[in-house]
Amino acid sequence: MAETRILGIESSCDETAAAVVVDGRTILSSVVASQIDIHRKYGGVVPELASREHLRQIVPVVREAMEQSGLKFADLDAIGVTQGPGLVGSLLVGITYGKALAASLSKPLIAVNHLEGHIHAAFLEAHQHGELPQLPAVCLIVSGGHTVLYEVKASEASRNGAFHYRKLGQTRDDAAGEAYDKVAKLLGLGYPGGPILDRLAGAAGAAPAPTRFGPTKTRGNPLDFSFSGLKTAVLYHVREHPEYDEEIHRREESLRTGHRRFEELLQLCSPAMLGLVREFQNAVVRDLVDRTMGAAEECGVETILVSGGVAANRQLRATFEQRAEAGGLKVHFPSRALSTDNAAMIAAAAYPRFVNRQLANKSLNALASMPLA
Ligand code: KG4
Ligand code: ZN
Repeated sequence: MAETRILGIESSCDETAAAVVVDGRTILSSVVASQIDIHRKYGGVVPELASREHLRQIVPVVREAMEQSGLKFADLDAIGVTQGPGLVGSLLVGITYGKALAASLSKPLIAVNHLEGHIHAAFLEAHQHGELPQLPAVCLIVSGGHTVLYEVKASEASRNGAFHYRKLGQTRDDAAGEAYDKVAKLLGLGYPGGPILDRLAGAAGAAPAPTRFGPTKTRGNPLDFSFSGLKTAVLYHVREHPEYDEEIHRREESLRTGHRRFEELLQLCSPAMLGLVREFQNAVVRDLVDRTMGAAEECGVETILVSGGVAANRQLRATFEQRAEAGGLKVHFPSRALSTDNAAMIAAAAYPRFVNRQLANKSLNALASMPLA
């Protein structure tokens, strides 16, 4: 069978991305324009600014992805675009562009669920190493917008890598990445919070713990997550200890003057602050890993997939590796580039839909919420 070349387009949040992927496996190009610098001073994604920036970026990003792939538009077999979930104004930029491109080239358009894209990212990564994750699996998607657990099975009804999903649990409030971002903000550590807290926690060593955070209990489904209580516990701890105020203020000043490098911020952190960051991260990682391992046991699976921006976290990776090895399970993570939002995962998720002729039509619209199962 001839190769299938799909152009993927992603614009659901604050990354404008385009990629060309062959047969859902081989990445010819993957271009991501991040808007972090634009949203940083607001401490989070501002939807209006995000849509405007997508409008500016979409044409050059797609052009660069095509150039890097070495293909011409005419060589494409289909265009896959994220339909949701995400910011409607942002999604609409990608969808409108994808529709126009598909119509002008007379190529099929495929609507992709962003969450399904994150699941495919784990497979895409494995393919790059000649591996194929075994199904059934449990997949944890953990990012700034989502914290959700799915059981992933090979779909019997359709062919060629289509999956069947069952939702096992999700966050009741904040996503894990959102908790990282909010805690970093209140500690004067800037945006996004994940990467800096990850590194500071790693640098904390044996700094004494100024407080400890117990496991989060969720009534009802034991596989549901909750992170807002942890964020509030950090907030109360900081409020009750005014001795943190000065260093927080100094870090905010440092960020304001453009000194945001890890080494610069580390210098401005007291041992108690490093201990606090470490305890926060321990609590997040423990909850993510415990519930995912619990889900794997409940479903009787031997494979765990972890995807989304927070999957880049070093402690999360190391803890999953240890626990999986001890339990005789295999855990797959995408690389950092495939963990965070990208369009290669969208093109990969579009492939089984293309093969099964699940095509979108001209009425395709953005969906702020788009459950996968
Ligand atoms: O998947 P992503 O790029 O966008 C969303 O769909 O949200 O994830 C971004 C999120 C942010 O909340 C960021 O703080 C978090 O992922 N993040 C991390 C790390 N790197 C990024 N969280 C913890 N540790 C990291 N190393
Ligand atoms: Zn995402």
